[in-house]
Amino acid sequence: MNLKEKILKVRDSYDPAWRASADVLKEMGEILNTFNLEGILELGPGLSSVLFYEYVYWIPGAKYVAIDHVGEYATKHIKTMESIGVDASNILVKDIDERDGFYTLSDSDKENVKNQLGGKADLFFIDGPVEPSARCCDRALDFLFPLAHPESIWVVDDTNRDEESKLLRLIEQHFHNMSYMELEIPDSTFSNRKSTLLIPMEYT
Ligand SMILES: C[S@@+](CC[C@H](N)C(=O)[O-])C[C@H]1O[C@@H](n2cnc3c(N)ncnc32)[C@H](O)[C@@H]1O
Repeated sequence: MNLKEKILKVRDSYDPAWRASADVLKEMGEILNTFNLEGILELGPGLSSVLFYEYVYWIPGAKYVAIDHVGEYATKHIKTMESIGVDASNILVKDIDERDGFYTLSDSDKENVKNQLGGKADLFFIDGPVEPSARCCDRALDFLFPLAHPESIWVVDDTNRDEESKLLRLIEQHFHNMSYMELEIPDSTFSNRKSTLLIPMEYT
């Protein structure tokens, strides 16, 4: 089964309102084909994971780590991935801390994520944790920045919303010596949705 067949096989297992759009998948495919990425970290896995698992299967040294907060969703996701021959059992499932709206990650969880990535992530795909139980912003970045390097590529979904678009500004501020190409991907299925990629200029 090739990548397209895998995506088509599992696509309907994911709610259209929650899954990555075809536009995002296409753009992510281009990014993965173009840049030499190793560590990939995704908050909120799903249909997009098909692409990342395919990538790490073919690219020596590439690693993909995913975190979710809903055990039931993660179990279903792992089963769905199994149906296309993918072992997704290493997904990290962590509840949301209601005080700060982010995954409850212990120091050893963080160390574990870092080790699984081989140190740092070259690509972050931020598609969770989802509202209303969570706020995706500042706390996510407290966790992600130590795992990032200045040349990391960032993908933030739902940047039509203030919370998510704020993330882009915070990332740019954090890496203030870098300039980024900001690539917006409108969702052609849900016209009010968009995702945004921050690609360091040295790649362009
Ligand atoms: C925003 S979706 C995106 C998934 C993935 N990045 C993709 O491209 O398909 C991921 C998050 O949504 C949650 N989720 C997925 N389907 C859901 C549903 N039908 N109802 C509520 N939450 C859902 C999951 O817990 C997960 O954290």
